Amino acid sequence: MLSEEGLQMRLITSVEDVGKLTTRWKEAGLRISLVPTMGFFHAGHLALMKYAKQHSDRVVVSLFVNPSQFGPNEDFKEYPRDLERDRSLAEKENVDCLFCPEAADMYPEGFQTWVDVNGLAKHLCGASRPGHFRGVATIVTKLFNIVRPDLAVFGQKDFQQLQIIRRIVRDLNFGIEIKGYPIVREADGLAMSSRNKYLNSEERKNALCLFEALKMAEKMVSEGCCSTPRLAHAIERIILARPGTKIDYIFLGDPETLTERETIQDDTLLALAVYVGNTRLIDNTILRPPKDAKGVHHKGKF
Ligand code: PAJ
Repeated sequence: MLSEEGLQMRLITSVEDVGKLTTRWKEAGLRISLVPTMGFFHAGHLALMKYAKQHSDRVVVSLFVNPSQFGPNEDFKEYPRDLERDRSLAEKENVDCLFCPEAADMYPEGFQTWVDVNGLAKHLCGASRPGHFRGVATIVTKLFNIVRPDLAVFGQKDFQQLQIIRRIVRDLNFGIEIKGYPIVREADGLAMSSRNKYLNSEERKNALCLFEALKMAEKMVSEGCCSTPRLAHAIERIILARPGTKIDYIFLGDPETLTERETIQDDTLLALAVYVGNTRLIDNTILRPPKDAKGVHHKGKF
């Protein structure tokens, strides 16, 4: 597929070269978007690329399995990688540049500057993955500085990551538009993830409990339940009914500040992290309490 002036998608590994390319595009007045990824593309990644293509003149997709966001006992080594497949998938989406830097260029000898988002990164995934968001925040900041996009697209599947990035953009005056793209799911509801590859067929069936728990919570809230302990208990029962599951967290709270809430009177984030076998999966939804005809929230029946 030809994406620009008769040129095929560019595969660039050099930090300097991608900077030169985007500088040229900027000088030509083109609007640039960036889709940061760790590769092994699925339909969720491709939807982000499609959105970027529709909302900008040139799309850069970065593909970098970022070592600094993996804990010492996590899956950095096993993380699935398939550059040839990713390259042809990105090309089909008319991506203009696939940027695949080397770890040694992103973290050169002597590297010691980190981006830490103190409040938002503490809880949820931050609690069970110490240092994870420091790695994410640092690499995304570097990518913003290297590519200097007008728009950057992230998935709502990693809701906490998205809010942390929004915070960085505000706090550090990046002036980049951030799009949070809705969660793309398999036909049966499982949120797409590169880590779904780790699931065997039994685990794949049991992994559906995350989606089932979200749907059940949405139903309870739509019927007037506003008690977070009651919701959390019902969610726990659905998840633990499946063999081989272990709950990391069930979070019900403010979608902006990521602080917990006692009751659900306003739109509330429900976020889950669950181990299915050894694979840690995350998913989330926004619970919206019913409003009456005048747009006033019900107090809740139970
Ligand atoms: P990765 O897991 O590869 O995800 C890349 C982007 O795709 C993220 O913005 C993520 O939220 C989005 N995404 C993943 N699954 C999705 C789904 N089912 N529906 C919609 N969007 C989905 O997230 C990362 O990489 C890294 O932390 C990164 C931001 C690249 C920094 O290293």
